[in-house]
Amino acid sequence: MKNYYITTPIYYVNDKPHIGHAYTTILADTLSRFRQLINQKTFFLTGLDEHGLKVQQAAEKNGANPQDHCDTMAPAFLELWKRLNIQYSDFIRTTEERHVKIVQNILTEVYNNGDIYKDKYEGWYSIAEERFITKKELDSGLFRDVKKIEEENYFFKMSKYQDQLIKKIEDDKEFIQPSTRKNEVLGFLKQDLSDLCISRPKTRLEWGIEIPFDKDYVTYVWFDALINYISSPKYSEDKNNFEENWPADVHLIGKDILTTHSVYWPTMLMSLDLPLPKTIFAHGWWLTDEEKMSKSLGNIISPLMLIDEFGVDSVRYYLMSEMVLGLDATFSMDSFIKRYNSDLANDLGNLVSRVSTLIDKNFDGIIPQCNDDKNDLSNQLSNIDIEEKLNTFKMDGLIQSIMDFVRSINVYMEKNQPWKLVKEDKDLAGIVLYNAAESLRIATLMLSPVMPQKSQEILDTLGSNDSSLEWGGLKSGEKIGSINPIFPRIVK
Ligand code: MSP
Repeated sequence: MKNYYITTPIYYVNDKPHIGHAYTTILADTLSRFRQLINQKTFFLTGLDEHGLKVQQAAEKNGANPQDHCDTMAPAFLELWKRLNIQYSDFIRTTEERHVKIVQNILTEVYNNGDIYKDKYEGWYSIAEERFITKKELDSGLFRDVKKIEEENYFFKMSKYQDQLIKKIEDDKEFIQPSTRKNEVLGFLKQDLSDLCISRPKTRLEWGIEIPFDKDYVTYVWFDALINYISSPKYSEDKNNFEENWPADVHLIGKDILTTHSVYWPTMLMSLDLPLPKTIFAHGWWLTDEEKMSKSLGNIISPLMLIDEFGVDSVRYYLMSEMVLGLDATFSMDSFIKRYNSDLANDLGNLVSRVSTLIDKNFDGIIPQCNDDKNDLSNQLSNIDIEEKLNTFKMDGLIQSIMDFVRSINVYMEKNQPWKLVKEDKDLAGIVLYNAAESLRIATLMLSPVMPQKSQEILDTLGSNDSSLEWGGLKSGEKIGSINPIFPRIVK
């Protein structure tokens, strides 16, 4: 059985991770956990992009050699992923031998099949973007650090695959998502695609993977980096493992790296005669004050600061529910606190303490008897279609529908008032509390991909270790756990 294979971009190690990097990784982790919740096996890959000019320059600035620089930076990412509870299946670094070897094998393969040639090139080069830019781009004035360069280089025959790529994008609705991005790429492909310069002379850049058929050159960082998606599952080295994973089900990326993923990468795969990823999904940016969060603008929100102050799961919850996948979202402390207080402290947290306290006080902490599996609440569960929401990448919508269910448990409690009912008809009050607690158990399991730790705390309070999403997992007669405040209100 093939794994559901999900990737994040591999991050440059020229800087510490910020909330934008954390976002894509949390999103991948949450999607992967949701897939597991509906009993799919997943393979989730993340890692670091360690070659190229940016990294070399960052190392020089720190007075370190590039490999030492990477080795110093990598722990900051690993530490953050641990704090954020990221359950990746593999973490790849492009300086690892296992990756270098496969990149070199691929270069040889593509060279031998005639898709790489050497040519003289003269043009404008943007150091910030690490690529040659066109005359039109130069004239736009949008590019910093531009210099004119004339040199011999190796080129990949990207243009050869232009028509095949256009056809694929037009025919396959799932391939590039959301559709605005699909149209953007098709727009880009209206002009003639040029071939891709995939080498850098060592005289200009040393920090890269050596071209196997010419020792004077290193590989262009994007040609090297994109290959991580197939080097991790062991392309050309372990057929079974590779086929268990590839093609990827989704490459999650930010909209800033759309062209490299939907033009460079598919044409590289076409040259290798490999299947293309099923979906490339580009999400929007996190903005602060309408601007992209970035180091140069000095408007970065530190994920660690947020975790320390508000806890991991509330940060995960905020990022997953606040951004409509595909669109930009604005990060602000106000909206963070608002969402926390209304969804987590109020709707969910209060419900947990109310239901468990009522069971504790009136039923000695024992889950009451119930044999009523067709009730107002169980009927509403069918409104939550996890798989459909996952297939259409509606993460915020999925969370919304689970929280709607949580709110309807609150409505059910208000309507039936078990705290009053218990004085008139204890059995009936027991049924109401059972239904509320069982609904809460299922809702909590459904929220566990977003908030793994807090969900476990809630399940512990309910005394449940049943992991089924079917009605009836909570066992009458069992004891509930200790009751602690789960989401204390944030008072500003
Ligand atoms: N190394 C390349 C990717 C190679 S993939 C084969 C790269 N790295 S990066 O460190 O610049 O990270 C880029 C990714 O970080 C973006 O595509 C996006 O996923 C995430 N984000 C960085 N800043 C972001 C925001 N402000 N908002 C949301 N995500 C952003 O590009």
